[in-house]
Amino acid sequence: MIKFRNIAVLTSGGDAPGMNTLVRSVARSALEQGVKVYGVYEGFQGLMDDQPADPKSHFPGSLINLDAYAVTNIIDKGGTILKSARAEKFKTEEGMALAKATCERHNIDGIVAIGGDGTFRGATDLTNRGIPCIGLPATIDNDITATDESIGFDTALNTAVELIDKLRDTCESHARCNVVELMGRNAGYITLEAGAAAGASGILTCECPYSEEEIFKNIINAKKQGKRSFIVVIAEGVKFKKEEEGVKNYCEDFAKRLETATGVETKFCRPAHILRGGIPSPRDRILASQMGYEAVRLLLEGKSRLVVCKQKSGIISLDINYALILDRMYKNKLKPGDLDAFTTEQQAEMRAFCAAKAAEFAEMYRVANAIGAYPESE
Ligand code: F6P
Repeated sequence: MIKFRNIAVLTSGGDAPGMNTLVRSVARSALEQGVKVYGVYEGFQGLMDDQPADPKSHFPGSLINLDAYAVTNIIDKGGTILKSARAEKFKTEEGMALAKATCERHNIDGIVAIGGDGTFRGATDLTNRGIPCIGLPATIDNDITATDESIGFDTALNTAVELIDKLRDTCESHARCNVVELMGRNAGYITLEAGAAAGASGILTCECPYSEEEIFKNIINAKKQGKRSFIVVIAEGVKFKKEEEGVKNYCEDFAKRLETATGVETKFCRPAHILRGGIPSPRDRILASQMGYEAVRLLLEGKSRLVVCKQKSGIISLDINYALILDRMYKNKLKPGDLDAFTTEQQAEMRAFCAAKAAEFAEMYRVANAIGAYPESE
């Protein structure tokens, strides 16, 4: 086994509840193995900057010593104690060289990078330049194809459902509908699962075709049978897609069309970044604890360029490049040559995985809609 002197852990990209739980798990798992841990302040930006602490501005320094106590009582804290930043320069050779130099100066023999696909690309580039990295998936969007669940998703889902349940109360009192636009970038997981859990009368995502007319008809039928409150959820990705087609304010205008078509007074709500904050759910905390431990185990075993994932079989790890190409395949964004590095068997395995994932989404969508439906009464 390689003798590691120090490792570093960083959070990058959009924050997600549970990132702190990951940081704690990584730090404690490494310390238990006698390896010192640095927390990198402000992600890859901090790794390039390597600034000393400035007590006057309360800046803790780009590299923070994470001893066991430094990560105490963060298991339940939202956001990220290490902060996050967008680091365009990290994509350049100059940025890479700066990051590598920081690692060499501080005897950092490996990095655990927490975030989404942008973070994993950075981790791959750094591994290719001699700094072994392991990625941990954290994003509320749950849009990292290789893992069934990313850290932060369960908390965001719980937050969304709690919000919708509150909206339901007031909708029921006033016989109203609430159209709720939910984050998720181009992925509809939060919307689908929140819609299913909150008994939505309509669920609009990019993944599955929907009909506005069918949703209106469903609400009219339900109203005739005495139903007073209605919830319709829309994934923000639908809005982004419509914007690409030149349609602005799709979600707000959909709410107005719904009101006109059904005669039900309709309000619009966009919780936006509220879904990114808050106390991580127990499920996120448990998964984060397992994933952080696994990342350190892999790193100390001399493995790198891997992303830790949760799949049906349990906690596994996959080559980052495999995971990134799988992601592009699922999102229909493959570029020419992307599959060249993979055997025919691997390509078939990737296609089957993507097909199964899409089928699972479609089935949950079908069931949620079936249960939310009010067939026409006699
Ligand atoms: O990826 C997480 C996410 O919250 C998405 O759901 C959303 O589209 C995006 O980030 C918002 O990004 P920003 O915080 O930069 O506005």
